[in-house]
Amino acid sequence: MVIGLLTISAIPTVTGVSLGVSEQKKANSRASDAKRLEKFYLDVFCDATSEKAKELQGRRVVLRDNKVFLDSPTPTARSIPSHTAQAFYVTYPPDDDKRERGLGLVSTIAVDPPMLNWIYVDKDTLEVKYGNRTQSREHLVGPWDWTEDETGVTVADLEGFMAVEEEEGVWAVYFDRFGDGLQKVRDEGKEVMEISLERNLVKPPGEEGRGGGGR
Ligand SMILES: *[C@@H]1O[C@H](CO)[C@@H](O)[C@H](O)[C@H]1NC(C)=O
Repeated sequence: MVIGLLTISAIPTVTGVSLGVSEQKKANSRASDAKRLEKFYLDVFCDATSEKAKELQGRRVVLRDNKVFLDSPTPTARSIPSHTAQAFYVTYPPDDDKRERGLGLVSTIAVDPPMLNWIYVDKDTLEVKYGNRTQSREHLVGPWDWTEDETGVTVADLEGFMAVEEEEGVWAVYFDRFGDGLQKVRDEGKEVMEISLERNLVKPPGEEGRGGGGR
């Protein structure tokens, strides 16, 4: 039995039975926005000019051990085995008290068998993590969105992501929920960089590497 694993086909059913009418309308209009369901990689954009910034620029979101990290888009000898996130937006199922949670971010967490989880921000540590609904629901599960140009990824309308170097060369993703540079949770000894996470659409097989915007 695969309880707790989300599958793409299961999601509309879940939202369909648990939403009220007006919420359902909203959900439908979002759902009909097929662009929300287009899978994307999350790639780092890092503006700064320091060595650390250059190290981070262009890294890609990968998942392991229920936590979100940044690695090279093409795994290198130094890469720790991880799953490369392919994410898309889906309305997060409201709580039993009908509190709406807005758009959630779902990602693949395994290819074979295909499995999906929610990406969320740990309310205590501000680490970006992934897990099933049970694991995620008490945390900040969104609302996730994109910037006006549909490129930057946001949580609660903020592009407040930060990379923290947890070990030499190992960068984890945090969300600066309070806009204070992670002051409450941050370990002074660790390097912290402001980053943006940008959507980079996963091209259908066969279009990879064709280039030139052939969509
Ligand atoms: C969610 O994941 C946790 C940890 O892996 C697991 O113990 C739990 O059974 C899962 N919940 C559901 C509803 O599958």
